[in-house]
Amino acid sequence: MLDAITFDAQQKLFILRGNRSYYAMRLLDDGALVHVGFGPAQTVPDAFSGLDSYEEPNYVWENQGRRWEYPTFGDVSQHDVALTAAFPEPPGERRGGEQNYLPVRDVRLRYVHHDICSSAQPGLTAQHGRNEPSARPTLCITLRDIGYPFIARLYYRITPELDIFERWVELENQTDMQVSIELLAFATIHLPTDRYTLTRAAGAWGREFVPITQELHQGVTLMRQLGLNTGHQVNPSFVIRPLGQTEPDVGRTCFGLLAFSGNWSLRCEVLPTDAVRIHGGYEHGNFGMTLNPGETHCTPAFIFGIADDGINGASNRLHAWFHRCVLPKSVHGTTRPVLYNGWESVYFDMSMEKQLQLARTAAAIGVELFCVDDGWFSGRRNERIGLGDWTVDPSIFPNGLTPLIAEVTRLGMRFGLWVEPEMVNPDSHLYRTHPDWVLHFPGRPRTEMRHQLILDFGRSDVVETVYAMLDSLLAENDITFFKWDMNRYITEMGSAAGREIWYRHVQGVYGIMDRLLKKYPRLDIQSCSGGGGRVDAGMLSRCVQVWTSDNTDAMDRVYIQDGFSLFYPPATMESWVTHERNHQTGRMIPLDVRFDVAMRGVLGIGTNLDALPADELEVYRRKIAFYKKIRHIVQGGRLYRLASLPTDSASVWQIVSPDGEESVYSIAVVQALQGHHLPNYRLRNLLPDATYRITNESDDEIGRFSGAQLMTLGMPGDQRHGHFTCSLRSRTVLLRRV
Ligand code: GLA
Repeated sequence: MLDAITFDAQQKLFILRGNRSYYAMRLLDDGALVHVGFGPAQTVPDAFSGLDSYEEPNYVWENQGRRWEYPTFGDVSQHDVALTAAFPEPPGERRGGEQNYLPVRDVRLRYVHHDICSSAQPGLTAQHGRNEPSARPTLCITLRDIGYPFIARLYYRITPELDIFERWVELENQTDMQVSIELLAFATIHLPTDRYTLTRAAGAWGREFVPITQELHQGVTLMRQLGLNTGHQVNPSFVIRPLGQTEPDVGRTCFGLLAFSGNWSLRCEVLPTDAVRIHGGYEHGNFGMTLNPGETHCTPAFIFGIADDGINGASNRLHAWFHRCVLPKSVHGTTRPVLYNGWESVYFDMSMEKQLQLARTAAAIGVELFCVDDGWFSGRRNERIGLGDWTVDPSIFPNGLTPLIAEVTRLGMRFGLWVEPEMVNPDSHLYRTHPDWVLHFPGRPRTEMRHQLILDFGRSDVVETVYAMLDSLLAENDITFFKWDMNRYITEMGSAAGREIWYRHVQGVYGIMDRLLKKYPRLDIQSCSGGGGRVDAGMLSRCVQVWTSDNTDAMDRVYIQDGFSLFYPPATMESWVTHERNHQTGRMIPLDVRFDVAMRGVLGIGTNLDALPADELEVYRRKIAFYKKIRHIVQGGRLYRLASLPTDSASVWQIVSPDGEESVYSIAVVQALQGHHLPNYRLRNLLPDATYRITNESDDEIGRFSGAQLMTLGMPGDQRHGHFTCSLRSRTVLLRRV
């Protein structure tokens, strides 16, 4: 086994090796660190000279075309950079008469030394102690500016068996002046010269994560979020493939994501040479940071890799990495429970009787976690009132939440509660007491959205008060699940923390979550932001699952879940079965389809159960029992998207258990016209010689086939029985080795 990190002193060459990929850099004579290669393992060049040249070919301007590992404004001015910093004074002796030329906005980093360690952590790493993956090889290369004692440490961590690389940077200001950081990327990565397509998960509220693919052309394609959540419009994640390569299981596929939950940007830059650079870090438009003398700042991580087995290969590596290195462990087990959430049943019409009734029915059909949504706290009869006052409303729950929690527990379920801790309604005790605690600019309007304002997490007293309120809720009640919501975009970003608020807000949210998770080992957190607006590797190192979208229409969900699953594991993707006429789209969706699509992730139920007849509840009970039979595969297996909308007329998922002995096959057909025949989709990664028994939710045997047959002839049944002759059909089956 080759070392994961090597340095060849003669060639001045660093090589980082995963099992199936490599990443290489070289030191030049002037101390500059340049990129020389990133690709599948079989393409590691024998000599790093011609093939992966560090100079862009045919590039006339000296230095501008160098493949700088960490390009800075100073060395590079013609293209995008990873760092722009401003020094108020020149280095060394002051020359008079040059005041107008200050500050010095020029950084040039050169090699000082390097270390290989295993304990370094990126900034904003979870501090709750529930996810401590084994130490991983990490390279730290220390660079220093040519004039100022201004240090940048570039970190490279590898999880070799999964081919995942993580990069981040730590800046240290050893000067005696304040340094302003104007732009800061966690890393820049380079791809070899080629023509590429970029796939991202994008959309809006209610259609988050829809995969969009576009060709990358010369210039900068910007993906970014201007907010304090990760964003509905676009997720900080990407897949880049050579143009024309569309097969899901083959071909070189570069992928990446950021571990940060607000104000991020990914700039995909194509140079005139067609070389590609991706700069990922803080979105710099409104951001600013000051490093005082002696201060350091460590950024979160930019995670990336290159797969040689297509987009499914990329997803599989990321999913495995999330499971092994990122997601917090829950004391409640490795699979996520079936959840009930009453938001779409009652909205703000909250009452103890109704909650008790829903809890009893939910328990009877097999629900394991009962979550009370918005409307339980002080005065909260509608959206206008109560946010910020996190005490139980006595007019709804005269004896607090205890009697409801006791009944939920007696019924064999855990209890969960909705909170939105970063927000305040002007009509609240908190706001009346502390009108200065919100983000605002003095003397300027305070724009409300959903009648709420955002608390200023740039103030430590605000962060401490919010923590204390949540702490009391947990101390006084047996709550083992928070649905942590964040329901608005930003306006008037005035803060006690100035332009650092973008970072400080996220740091505040993470910090509160970490403290609560540490103090209350039985607590799990679900991330929600008006649906799927807060999904990223930073959040997922604290939250076991996320609310994928407020849109629960199964037909829209197929797209949303396809995009989500490109990067994030199904075990984190909460999906609910809701009403026959969908509340968001008004579309009527058959119950089978609603279940089949929701069973691709963490199953939840959001229907008003009391309005359902007994025979329908019995169908719910049967389907939930089936889900429990397959969920260890859905939540812990390897996912293959065999067909995707809109290219194909069906969305087909196959999830295989790690040992290949079991698999779940799930098809949802949206666009099949009468007479249209679907192919028998060829399954993946089964044991060729094993015989698999295929059963449906009622345990009826559909057939027995060998792994080899299923992988070469495909999955029978979808067209043979004329099953899918109209749109909106689906089925989920279990394959088990006999
Ligand atoms: C957001 C969430 C919903 C629900 C409401 C409650 O919109 O996404 O699931 O919790 O808030 O106000």
